[in-house]
Amino acid sequence: MPDTFRHSVATAKGASERACLIVDDEPGMRALLRRVMQADGFECHEAGSGEDALRVLATNPVPLVLSDYHMPAMDGAALLQAIQLRAPDTAVVIITATADVQLAVKCLEGGALDYLTKPFAADEVRARVAQAMAKRSLLRENAAYRAQLEARVAEQASQYEELFLASLQSLADALEVKDAYTWGHSTRVSRYAMAIADVLQLPDALRTQLELGSRLHDIGKIGVREAVLNKPGPLTGEEYAHVMEHPVIGWRILSPLLRDMPHALAVVRSHHERFDGEGTPDQLLGPSIPLEARITAVADSFDAMTSGRPYRDGMSVEEAMEELERHAGTQFDPCCVTAFKLALERDHALRPDWNVRRRRELTLVA
Ligand SMILES: [Fe+2]
Repeated sequence: MPDTFRHSVATAKGASERACLIVDDEPGMRALLRRVMQADGFECHEAGSGEDALRVLATNPVPLVLSDYHMPAMDGAALLQAIQLRAPDTAVVIITATADVQLAVKCLEGGALDYLTKPFAADEVRARVAQAMAKRSLLRENAAYRAQLEARVAEQASQYEELFLASLQSLADALEVKDAYTWGHSTRVSRYAMAIADVLQLPDALRTQLELGSRLHDIGKIGVREAVLNKPGPLTGEEYAHVMEHPVIGWRILSPLLRDMPHALAVVRSHHERFDGEGTPDQLLGPSIPLEARITAVADSFDAMTSGRPYRDGMSVEEAMEELERHAGTQFDPCCVTAFKLALERDHALRPDWNVRRRRELTLVA
């Protein structure tokens, strides 16, 4: 421990509201200030230089620092700056040898709460210290109030986001009531898509958007005529073209709502693109199709194949997987197909149960 440094408390304790650090390279000045401060009920620590002061503060955080300005090596302004960085709510009072207004202004601008000029009377020290401590309390109260306010704003923003996502989910649910063949489809597609995302180790930000996008991927079917949507038999060319407008309709509906979620929007618009460039609506080719849409295409087709219809049972998992593999490289991204196969092997609970696969009578909602 350097001999220029000494502190009057033998053991390090937590910060006390009546504790201070006196920093001065003149031992006589430190002793004088210590007497004044101790008489005022302060527990005093001392340091003979700016560097020592930082060492003392590291183990003995105090609410108040009284520091000389003119010291060798680190001066009062540099110490003030260092304290501002490490413990910004410390009240610093700078002591100067002469009444130098410019120096005082510089210190106040740097974050000092007050200044003293030598020589000073004990009453003056007490008055300046009391003023600095009062300013510090006010600043701390303001900071606490601001933090509380920020926490409330963040909580409200989170509630709004939850409400927003719940309303989008309601929109997706509304579609599934209208399209009686596909009850539960969007939830299952989202589950399969997230399982692929797990295998591909997608980053969290993308996963969140994939989850939302896959839940909403068919939302554009709201704009498709119900007679076409619920037609039990094969569709005519015109009817098929009408159904396949849904990616663009969905994208138009959601674009104003999901401005900050481009990947979710990409799922809605591009989940019927094909890996060979023969898809719709933009005939994107291979990797130019957003990955989140390529993932959803695999999940979507798997659910379509394994879900029962009024005229047939759904395929078995093995049959559907064979179909996906048969069309890997033409309709589907082979990486996404492989990842899905792996996900199904890893997690048996991912496989659709018989309630999904069995032939289902169409129950139209009036
Ligand atoms: Fe679709």
